[in-house]
Amino acid sequence: MSHSFHPPQRILMGPGPSDVSARVLGALGRPTIGHLDPLFIELMDDTKQLLQYAFKTQNELTIPLSAPGSAGMEAAFVNLVSPGDTVIVCQNGVFGGRMKENVERCGAHAVMVQDRWGDPVDPQKVEEAFAAHPEANLLAFVHAETSTGVRSDAKTLCELAQRHDALTIVDTVTSLGGIDLCVDDWGADAVYSGTQKCLSCVPGLSPMTFSRKAVARIQNRGD
Ligand SMILES: Cc1ncc(COP(=O)(O)O)c(C=O)c1O
Repeated sequence: MSHSFHPPQRILMGPGPSDVSARVLGALGRPTIGHLDPLFIELMDDTKQLLQYAFKTQNELTIPLSAPGSAGMEAAFVNLVSPGDTVIVCQNGVFGGRMKENVERCGAHAVMVQDRWGDPVDPQKVEEAFAAHPEANLLAFVHAETSTGVRSDAKTLCELAQRHDALTIVDTVTSLGGIDLCVDDWGADAVYSGTQKCLSCVPGLSPMTFSRKAVARIQNRGD
């Protein structure tokens, strides 16, 4: 016998999912409109602009992917990594390990920069990894490592990648809306997040933004 599910009222105290704002819950109860409705197009443009505001970016390609943060991560890697590439991946908790799996599934080589869980990514080690692997064309790191609550210095890491002509993939799943996040100021190239953490929305959407350099790399891929 089927019956409706009525979740109990809980106060969510973990790093996410977080309590969903009453405004969001209210909006979810409004009618559905068709995807070709002119109002839908307006809503899409509005959503894009608000995401640009949240990410602090002018990037044209700024969208909510209809999928969780893990799919945002996968979308960033599969679009930017070609087989045979060398990618420097920083790991100071759980999610750097997931980035490594993504790189390897793309048929690329992951050069791991390891830091102790609980410590931020050490830019000096990243510098050394670039010196040892001048062929690396991408640097990937997690801005706020959810498993430990540690923030890494995204601006310094992005600058370092730019000096080595590498693009950056930055995981901001637990930082967007919670701590300073300045995509354009950092010069970050592919940045993804999730809606169920500091944005206080329901799970299942991954806001993403790609710089012009990232879009150019995607468009010029030969594979
Ligand atoms: C830093 C980080 N990256 C990626 C993910 C994956 O996001 P999702 O659970 O929405 O797939 C999480 C989820 O906790 C996360 O904290």
